Amino acid sequence: MPGKVILGAQWGDEGKGKFIDIFAGEADLVVRSQGGNNAGHTVVVGTEKYKLQLIPSGILYPNCVNVIGPGVVVDPRNVLSEIDGLAEKGIGADKLFIDARCHCILPWHLELDALSEKARGGDDIGTTKKGIGPTYMDKAERIGVRMHDFVGERFEEVMREACARKNKVITGVYGGEPIDIEAVLAEYRVYADRLRAHVKDTSVMTYDAIKAGKDVLFEGAQGTLLDLDMGTYPYVTSSHPVAGGCCIGSGVGPTAITDIMGIFKSYTTRVGKGPFPTELFDETGDYIRTAGGEFGTVTGRPRRTGWFDAVIARYAVRVNGLTEMVINKIDPLRGLSKLKVCVGYRFKGETITEFPANFADLEHCEPIYEEFDGFDEDITNCRSFDELPESVRAYIRELERIVGCRVSMLGVGPARDQVITI
Ligand code: GDP
Ligand code: IMO
Ligand code: MG
Repeated sequence: MPGKVILGAQWGDEGKGKFIDIFAGEADLVVRSQGGNNAGHTVVVGTEKYKLQLIPSGILYPNCVNVIGPGVVVDPRNVLSEIDGLAEKGIGADKLFIDARCHCILPWHLELDALSEKARGGDDIGTTKKGIGPTYMDKAERIGVRMHDFVGERFEEVMREACARKNKVITGVYGGEPIDIEAVLAEYRVYADRLRAHVKDTSVMTYDAIKAGKDVLFEGAQGTLLDLDMGTYPYVTSSHPVAGGCCIGSGVGPTAITDIMGIFKSYTTRVGKGPFPTELFDETGDYIRTAGGEFGTVTGRPRRTGWFDAVIARYAVRVNGLTEMVINKIDPLRGLSKLKVCVGYRFKGETITEFPANFADLEHCEPIYEEFDGFDEDITNCRSFDELPESVRAYIRELERIVGCRVSMLGVGPARDQVITI
């Protein structure tokens, strides 16, 4: 494996958690490089279901080192409640490390996320309201609170300064209520004390692991089309879920990466707003939503559903440099007589096969479909490619052909073992 990236190749929630968990079993170190607790990664082990938001999925393996890299934004309250939740299930966090450079998500960021979404009215992004955008804004403006200061001697000074600055925006721009810094200091000092032992220069740890020839897993969050630059801007998140983001956000160079695995669902989903060419508004869309349990892990919102979009898949292969594709969640398609795959878009009377850079164009793209036979069999117990019904095998081979990338694994159910390696 030496340096393997596992990332979302659509709009998030592709089932990254399941595959990261599978490979974390062999990894020495798992590192998250971007995003924050807007992520919700589900790992099912036996009858136990873990919903990890910020903590890397390697935490379920006692020997695995888990790193929250410099590019991640960390909500101290949230990470501690995750640590406590895992402790209740007997899982320790002594091998969890947070980079000293991480920016903290603080109460004013949560407030500003809500206020700015409200102020946008019908034009809201549909964020998870976890303060992600406002925290990355402060980082880019170079006024954020970094973890080394949060757990260090300057705690009170940096917190007071940040709060005073943000209260001006909360009250002056949005007419909101100012945040009471004394209450925040009292609450967050406790968090700083608890987190201090976990704060390290994790880029050294990740580099040393790579140099020693250990297996390092880069855990993607969100998905390619939610990337700040390469996604459907402005309906994106504020970080870089594409493969390149793994280097920037973990503090190691691109030569550390050997494999890039893109996780796809056998159909497409999206939470939040923004264009979605293959979206289904009919009973087939409802059928897939129900069969796939497509409701947000973090917010509980129903996910929008649609057919597999190979234009998006080819784009994901290109912008991430994917070395392999995983087609996950095939089982929910059971019972549909025909499976459709979008192979191009009709745009202004022409056929286009490249994903447009201007998301406004995407609104006017009409999908061009190829149709394949569906399947009625229960495939959740299949563990080899040959056991799958002929129509499923044909569907996978067609996806490989249309997208132009090797399919290495399939998902046929939520559990750790419900996968097929090809
Ligand atoms: P992530 O954010 O990419 O890790 O994905 P989420 O955890 O947000 O959403 C994926 C959902 O699908 C979770 O509820 C998983 O338990 C579930 N899941 C994962 N793989 C499969 C699969 O192959 N089949 C089915 N039916 N469900 C799956
Ligand atoms: P995982 O890692 C799906 C979406 C939000 C919204 C947009 C911006 O579980 O795949 P933000 O709160 O990040 O500013 O919201 O991004 N979004 C996700 N959608 N899966 C995720 O993470 C997401 N994280 C953010 O719904 O549309
Ligand atoms: Mg998710």
